[in-house]
Amino acid sequence: RTRVLKINDVESDCSAILEAARLIQGGEVVAFPTETVYGLGANALDATAVQKIFEAKGRPGDNPLIVHISKRQDVDRLVRELPPAASTLMERFWPGPLTLILKKSHLIPDTVTAGLDTVAIRMPRHPVALRLIEYSGVPIAAPSANRSGHTSPTTAQHVLDDLDGRIPLILDGGKCQVGLESTVLDMTAEVPTILRPGGITYEMLTEVLGQVRVDASALKPLKEGQPVKSPGMKYAHYAPHAQVVVVRGELDQMVERINALAEEYIKQGMKVGILATHETKDYYKEGKVLVLGSRTQPAVMASNLFSALRQFDDLGVDVVFAEWIETKDEGLAIMNRMLRAAAFRVIDA
Ligand code: TXA
Ligand code: MG
Repeated sequence: RTRVLKINDVESDCSAILEAARLIQGGEVVAFPTETVYGLGANALDATAVQKIFEAKGRPGDNPLIVHISKRQDVDRLVRELPPAASTLMERFWPGPLTLILKKSHLIPDTVTAGLDTVAIRMPRHPVALRLIEYSGVPIAAPSANRSGHTSPTTAQHVLDDLDGRIPLILDGGKCQVGLESTVLDMTAEVPTILRPGGITYEMLTEVLGQVRVDASALKPLKEGQPVKSPGMKYAHYAPHAQVVVVRGELDQMVERINALAEEYIKQGMKVGILATHETKDYYKEGKVLVLGSRTQPAVMASNLFSALRQFDDLGVDVVFAEWIETKDEGLAIMNRMLRAAAFRVIDA
């Protein structure tokens, strides 16, 4: 069985974090909270330990992991080159939900990077994550702590639902504040390129760097045979058991179309979920309506997306109709995840 240790405060609960750190040092895996989602961590410098992450998750070996550090200077021995722009971003956004792709040093085992010449590095800002890395004394490789292909966990209970019996320990630090995985930014590209949008937005990065690209895969399925820059983006992801369909259009048109679809499916005996927003929720007539938040606060909507998808599963919903969200600020990350959850099924209202 998997043990769960509640951390209310990093000072008074430091013995639990120390226990987790000993597991990491002993080559075991531990799930821990970050400000984005829960991670499943192992010593990033120990290939055998890292292998256990892939086994626990059922993750394909060609999908590389993010290496988590607790101090800015930890980067230096993990990379071969540090472009000045990367240093600027670290100053500005670390600790926080920004992962930088840099040229890796020989210290990083191939299992971590899936054989790539680059490594993904981030400094999380969750106090439990920072303390765990510090106590472990090594960088921690960690993907999201879900079974491969599932929705990323934003609570310790989500981790337990997916990995109970497969890992020794979960540190429970409560609900993750950002709720979507970090922004992955490729700093080895000619122009810094967002491979996965997240909490540090395109707008925030552009303000600091001037020019930033968003990889074409952000809102589109990869074409067959197209080279994959961020291997994680090629897998069916964030998939709840229910079939998700995104409906796009003006607010009133979306509502009208979703009401019509819901009626039709319910008539056929299906259980229907609706992923709504504060602005629209009162206009739905049937179906199980969950609200992401207000359209004026995309960061709040982002923080609720994954738990809403898991809630639909708990409710036994067969199909979810989800409203399109404007793709500015955190909206880009929301739609990146939502479209993957929907396997890119989109209906124009
Ligand atoms: O917020 C997060 O990033 C969370 C928490 C735990 O830190 N972690 C996370 O890890 O989301 P994971 O493994 O679920 O996603 C890592 C993403 C994948 O899409 C992977 O392909 C990409 O980062 N990635 C990792 N190393 C890469 C590299 N060297 N080049 C390009 N993409 C890379
Ligand atoms: Mg993941």
